Amino acid sequence: MTRPIILTGDRPTGNLHLGHYVGSLKKRVLLQNEDKYDMFVFLADQQALTDHAKESEMIKDSIANVALDYLAVGLDPKKVTIFIQSQIPELAELTMYYMNLVSLARLERNPTVKTEISQKSFGESIPTGFLVYPISQAADITAFKANLVPVGNDQKPMIEQTREIVRSFNHTYKTDILIEPEGIFPENEAAGRLPGLDGNAKMSKSLGNGIYLSDDADTVHKKVMSMYTDPNHIRVEDPGQIEGNMVFHYLDIFGHKEEQEEIANMKKHYQKGGLGDVKTKRYLIDILERELAPIRKRRLEYAQNMDYVFDILKKGSEQASSKASETLDEVKKAMGINYF
Ligand code: TRP
Repeated sequence: MTRPIILTGDRPTGNLHLGHYVGSLKKRVLLQNEDKYDMFVFLADQQALTDHAKESEMIKDSIANVALDYLAVGLDPKKVTIFIQSQIPELAELTMYYMNLVSLARLERNPTVKTEISQKSFGESIPTGFLVYPISQAADITAFKANLVPVGNDQKPMIEQTREIVRSFNHTYKTDILIEPEGIFPENEAAGRLPGLDGNAKMSKSLGNGIYLSDDADTVHKKVMSMYTDPNHIRVEDPGQIEGNMVFHYLDIFGHKEEQEEIANMKKHYQKGGLGDVKTKRYLIDILERELAPIRKRRLEYAQNMDYVFDILKKGSEQASSKASETLDEVKKAMGINYF
């Protein structure tokens, strides 16, 4: 029996934060532990280069850091193949063939690419590699014949475009070797997007409003103490607002079932007046630390042994490469360019 294949990746452009954790990492570990899938997780360094061409040092550092984040949250290299995109040349080769099946207009219509272009102030100089990254993403997915791709909602257009490329390839070359993947998207809004400490809709590196899996306990403490609450809740006895108050928002997300009653009582107390922000924040710190402390501990342990971490990535990349090269052979055969 062949098992369904899951593949997903991240651009290594900085350490991973709590938003990544609730939005995707936790789910990956759950899927891994279901033991029903063949799973690939990879560092999309080539994709990161499409808009950070001059920052290859930063990408290199991020490879190490994101790999540590992966291992720290519990991705297990015995169960999941963890690899680095640039070490799989077959992916670039597949991209080359798929490029001929996609029009420039179609790329320019991709809504995520469109949004990113408007945010990144490329001006007139959009790198070609950036515009075609959805095609390279289709290569990432199809090289491993992935059936399922767990990603954020912003990646829906990439999955859609991959499906189109698969249909186009199979139709053009009268084959069925490429598999149309399905996306697995966050179940609800809360899981899809963790707001930043400052109340901004998104936790992000560029906004400087995140808690990182690599933050030490002191930093987490300071960051929570600076969280956005209710600016009109000045004295403890003032009535306070729950809506838009990041402390309560995070408590809803990170509190366990057994704590829900207590959190509901705290909300009532806060709204009535008499519950101070320092108290609610201390309570949140305990709840976050319950999750973060073991992750931090494992992260520090792995960080002591970076040779071992890179060895995991090397072995994973070798395995991934052999799988991708099987697909590439089939692709070339289907296209009739297997000359010898
Ligand atoms: N575009 C994804 C992101 O920014 C990263 C990525 C690259 C990816 N290739 C992929 C995700 C293939 C899933 C499958 O998060």
